[in-house]
Amino acid sequence: MTQTFLLLPGDGIGPEVTEQARRVLDVVAPDLKFSEGLFGGASYDVHGVPLTDEVLNQARQSDAILMGAVGGPKWAKVARNLRPEMGLLKLRKELDVYANLRPAFCFPALADASSLKREFVEGLDIMIVRELTSGVYFGEPRGIDDLGNGERKGYDNACYTSSEIRRVARVAFEIAKGRKGKGGAYPGVTSTDKSNVMESGVLWREEVTKLHQEEFANEPLDHILADAMAMQLVKKPKDVNVILADNLFGDILSDEASQLTGSIGMLPSAALGEPGTPGLYEPVHGSAPDIAGKGLANPCAAILSAEMALRWSLDRADAADRIWNAVGKALEDGARTADLGGSMSTAQMGDAIIAAL
Ligand code: NAD
Ligand code: IPM
Ligand code: MN
Repeated sequence: MTQTFLLLPGDGIGPEVTEQARRVLDVVAPDLKFSEGLFGGASYDVHGVPLTDEVLNQARQSDAILMGAVGGPKWAKVARNLRPEMGLLKLRKELDVYANLRPAFCFPALADASSLKREFVEGLDIMIVRELTSGVYFGEPRGIDDLGNGERKGYDNACYTSSEIRRVARVAFEIAKGRKGKGGAYPGVTSTDKSNVMESGVLWREEVTKLHQEEFANEPLDHILADAMAMQLVKKPKDVNVILADNLFGDILSDEASQLTGSIGMLPSAALGEPGTPGLYEPVHGSAPDIAGKGLANPCAAILSAEMALRWSLDRADAADRIWNAVGKALEDGARTADLGGSMSTAQMGDAIIAAL
């Protein structure tokens, strides 16, 4: 059956990097049926909302969705509920893609591109499993209240239910099963929380521990406070295999991990829901307003997000392997955008990867 692939280029460098991913997909999976939709600020400018019902329905009916990035200073004055980023949160929530896989992999050719010394990142291969549809990003009540006398109160609500914790933890354990032998001091799933100060963190640790005993007792499990994990990631990152994190900690830890791989322009992600539902694939980076429109963006994160889509949603591991190997080879041959210390344009980097296919 024909597989359908929805492209949501979005804003800033989003269209620049998704164009290169599309070119790569055209080579390795020419039979895919593509459609494209407006999303984020690009949608707001035309329809007055960052995500229309039509695009949401298109997303629901697709096998996989590749998003570029959304947001930017152009929409800074737009009402908060209509901001590009809110469209992204709505898309994730509506698709119920609760498990966000963010691999931090250091390609051998980039071992000197990281801000850390080569010995700390050479061979690095971490998988971050971030909860994506709950936690403080969505908790109620939230708001900014006027307390009078010029005093105001801003608040959010970090909350999780047991089932929300268990379903994402299950994904982390399943992934760890297929990644044995990686990591050092933390060889299996390392669950992060702030159970020393947060009730939601206490529940997180208890539920992960229970699930582990019930279903994954033979897999290694460690718990670590999220701040200590932030330190561990720059102290001895190769000690870590799979990190399980809530929505907020996972967001922060994945940006941190990106620097270990050489650049945030290298980090792809997959957001997955229940089997049989479409996956949402996006680079971890944002719309990079500072370099948008200049042809400077590194397209690798977008191309590797397409690679993840082939692997995780479309059951095309062979095509995914081709992309993965081509990115590695292009880097080995010296292909570099500016963020990696080179001078190639976005399109030239795409050319180099296509040539290596
Ligand atoms: P950012 O990731 O856009 O940029 C951070 C820095 O990394 C910038 O210096 C940028 O030039 C650089 N960078 C990012 N991607 C790059 C790439 N592919 N190649 C080379 N350099 C790259 O983060 P930010 O500046 O904090 O956010 C900008 C906007 O993007 C905000 O509106 C934010 O909300 C949004 N954002 C969106 C997403 C998303 O759509 N998934 C993710 C993060 C941020
Ligand atoms: C990410 C981004 C988003 C997040 C924003 C743009 C809503 O930072 O995907 O990492 O915080 O989840
Ligand atoms: Mn982020």
